[in-house]
Amino acid sequence: MSKVVLEVEKLAKTFRKPFTGKKVDAVRGVSFQVRAGEIFGFLGPNGAGKTTTIKMLTGLIAPTSGKASLLGTPVPSPDAMGRVGFLPENPYVYPYLTPREFVSMCGRLNGVGGRGYFAKVEKVIARVGMSEAIDRSVQNLSKGMLQRVGLAAALIHEPELLILDEPMSGLDPVGRKEVRDLILDERDAGRTVFFSSHILSDVEMLCDRVCILKKGEVVVAGTMNELLGAGGRRAEVALRDVPAELKRALEKLGHVTKELGKALAVEVDGDDRVKEVLELALAQGAHIEHVTPKRETLEDIFVRRAL
Ligand SMILES: Nc1ncnc2c1ncn2[C@@H]1O[C@H](COP(=O)(O)OP(=O)(O)OP(=O)(O)O)[C@@H](O)[C@H]1O
Ligand SMILES: [Mg+2]
Repeated sequence: MSKVVLEVEKLAKTFRKPFTGKKVDAVRGVSFQVRAGEIFGFLGPNGAGKTTTIKMLTGLIAPTSGKASLLGTPVPSPDAMGRVGFLPENPYVYPYLTPREFVSMCGRLNGVGGRGYFAKVEKVIARVGMSEAIDRSVQNLSKGMLQRVGLAAALIHEPELLILDEPMSGLDPVGRKEVRDLILDERDAGRTVFFSSHILSDVEMLCDRVCILKKGEVVVAGTMNELLGAGGRRAEVALRDVPAELKRALEKLGHVTKELGKALAVEVDGDDRVKEVLELALAQGAHIEHVTPKRETLEDIFVRRAL
């Protein structure tokens, strides 16, 4: 198994609201590991604690309890951060600089420079699709364009590990595809990518492993195969002429998804349950319309477990 490059152990953060002093438990004992070469998706509804966790990982705020490490060193770790590319949730880009100047400055702050640096800056800006605006003032860029500049700044020093807080936010569909491709290219180049997102279809396409937070706690964690692979065992059985008694029995066996008069569809987990539904239906005189295997999507899991 490849080595652990990011680790969070029972990490917790309690904020105190200004004025009222009321406590907010933003993150409550979160643990997970990210391994080298993985694309790891960090998910959860608004306010679940994703950004707070990322801020603790990157040393922007201190945890209330628990610990975290980046590239084998405990956080906060300025050394490790030099090998990490970080895209904050709302990247702050100095308004009076051009993308070329800003990205160039970020690289230099991370010790990059020397021969060929000019071309390198241009190349990374081209990778995020910003070549045409390379010399425009950052002040006049759109939200999606700022996001791209932030991404270029995160990539300029060729970091081993990328930590991206909502890299696709504010991007149009083409921009999202470009960022997905960029993340895949980074992984293919041997890097590790940890990112938070609300766009579950993107996560499903990209990630090897995900972790879903709800109210500061991990509610789902696992590889994509573990989470979705077993989904083939879920099936929808559609029936006609369902007597009331059968309907009550079906509600106990599964989840009734559609109902129209005496016709209904029920979703059940596992082959045994499908068999049970079919036997009951036949015994009670209902007609079977169809049985359709259902592949669960990440969105189904998210809606079921995180909301
Ligand atoms: N500085 C702060 N002071 C007080 N409460 C805070 C602070 N920062 C975050 N919170 C609270 O912590 C909780 C988690 O916020 P966080 O920004 O981590 O969520 P998130 O998962 O990133 O959400 P989103 O998907 O909207 O970006 C929220 O209830 C938020 O109001
Ligand atoms: Mg956030």
